[in-house]
Amino acid sequence: MKNLSPNALIILGVIALIVIVGVGWGAAKQTSKESFCVTCHAYEKVSWDHGKHPDIGCIACHTKGVIRDKIAGMRKVFLTLTDQVDPHRSNLPSYKDKINDNCIACHMTEEKLALMPFFKERHDEYRKHSPTCMGCHEAGHVVKLRDLRRPEVRLKQ
Ligand code: HEC
Ligand code: HEC
Ligand code: HEC
Ligand code: HEC
Repeated sequence: MKNLSPNALIILGVIALIVIVGVGWGAAKQTSKESFCVTCHAYEKVSWDHGKHPDIGCIACHTKGVIRDKIAGMRKVFLTLTDQVDPHRSNLPSYKDKINDNCIACHMTEEKLALMPFFKERHDEYRKHSPTCMGCHEAGHVVKLRDLRRPEVRLKQ
């Protein structure tokens, strides 16, 4: 490295940075696909296949932002690889308020509401009766299918 001019070092640095960012971005993309999610979440896949959103990837409803997703994801991969979880077991906590925001981001955009005034009117009323969309819509998963798992908690104790 001694013989390299400062300019060459800068160029090398930039190339290294591009490679690192590229690999990171690629990994983030791959691990956001439903094909990745279902390697661990078989029951959720079945209940999602039969729900109203089989064409919408898991992440569209479940994202909390890419950084938080990936940090939570690393923890989950660790828990799984160290054999602390059993996918046959019962429900996991879900973050309903965040999921709810994601429902709204797709279904209640200004354009959609403007196109469907009745939908808006009725839903303004409906939403007074339930804090989340899930109170009335079994949207992501057919809950009966998802709940076929055994009732013990998923994290082994
Ligand atoms: C390596 C296995 C594995 C993969 C792959 C995986 N998960 Fe998980 N998932 C887990 C484990 C383990 C938990 C339970 C974590 C806990 O209890 O803290 C979990 C919990 C969850 C939960 C409930 C808790 C929460 O954070 O809301 C959701 C929703 C979820 N995963 C969605 C997904 C999605 C979407 C993907 C794909 C982008 C995915 N998972 C990929 C293992 C995995
Ligand atoms: C990535 C965007 C997206 C997200 C997130 C999303 N949806 Fe959907 N939803 C769609 C699309 C696309 C369809 C199917 C086409 C249609 O009927 O509009 C659909 C269909 C539906 C339907 C059926 C409509 C009908 O005519 O039968 C309901 C109800 C629904 N979604 C509610 C929800 C709820 C509740 C959530 C949150 C848990 C949610 N959606 C999250 C895009 C989304
Ligand atoms: C109190 C119950 C209730 C709540 C809460 C509720 N909905 Fe609905 N939703 C309904 C009913 C009933 C219908 C069918 C009749 C109608 O369109 O008014 C419906 C219809 C829909 C449709 C289909 C509209 C169409 O005709 O294509 C979508 C999409 C939808 N809701 C999304 C949502 C979203 C997103 C939320 C959360 C922000 C939500 N709903 C909250 C009761 C509810
Ligand atoms: C249309 C939105 C939507 C899509 C698409 C979706 N989910 Fe969900 N998911 C939900 C909602 C809503 C809940 C919470 C249900 C409840 O508790 O009312 C949930 C709950 C979960 C949970 C935790 C709760 C439990 O019972 O264990 C996991 C794990 C999960 N989903 C994984 C997935 C995976 C994996 C995919 C893709 C194969 C997926 N989801 C696709 C909306 C969605």
